[in-house]
Amino acid sequence: MRRKLAAGNWKMNGLDENLQEIKTLSEVSNAHDCEVLICPPATLIHSMSRMSNDIAIGGQTCHANTSGAHTGDISAQMLADSGATYVILGHSERRADYNETDADVRAKTKTAWDAGLKVIVCIGESLGEREACNTIDIIGGQLSASVPDNATGENLVIAYEPVWAIGTGLTPTLDQIGEVHDFIRAQLERRFGAGVGRSVRILYGGSMNPKNAADIAQVSNVDGGLVGGASLKAADFSQIITALG
Ligand code: PGA
Repeated sequence: MRRKLAAGNWKMNGLDENLQEIKTLSEVSNAHDCEVLICPPATLIHSMSRMSNDIAIGGQTCHANTSGAHTGDISAQMLADSGATYVILGHSERRADYNETDADVRAKTKTAWDAGLKVIVCIGESLGEREACNTIDIIGGQLSASVPDNATGENLVIAYEPVWAIGTGLTPTLDQIGEVHDFIRAQLERRFGAGVGRSVRILYGGSMNPKNAADIAQVSNVDGGLVGGASLKAADFSQIITALG
């Protein structure tokens, strides 16, 4: 049985005053089987990781190199040192804003694993790609090129995030989500073998909210959610945690 994961991606939101959300989430998290993860901006990782043992904390990116002359960047080891146990890599906003390629994501994933972090690798099609019926090809290509060898159910989580669903209030139909998640599961099993392939969690992300979370959670091979806007307030995110179980 794969344990469900409710992952909150705060993106470039959150100040010291928002740390109180974690206290509320901690109580909710305690009452559920679902693993809860918050990925705040790097400035809050240290404080947040000291506030709760029930909630895992993660970064939102890291550099592919372990250290060196990369002004403004953050290394995987620094994230781990601050108390993070996860990092999100290859988010579509990073791919769009910083031209991150599948090869970059693969390199960063290896570095993050070396630092002991679990990695959430994000993949997803654009609206144009979906309308051209290329979704499965795009997902297959991103999955094989972004994920390094040596993946396990412990060190890897995949997040399927259709780019057109992020922050738009739009979501694919439940059938469309199921089709992509089943395909990702089959690809993972083919590449890594049935044992590992079945143990990697696959999250859905893109306009997940308290209203649609329970339905999405019932779809086959959906092992949780990567939630942006609706993770910022504990009142909303708690409902998603409850919906995921
Ligand atoms: P959203 O973002 O929930 O605000 O659509 C999801 C994400 O980008 O991970």
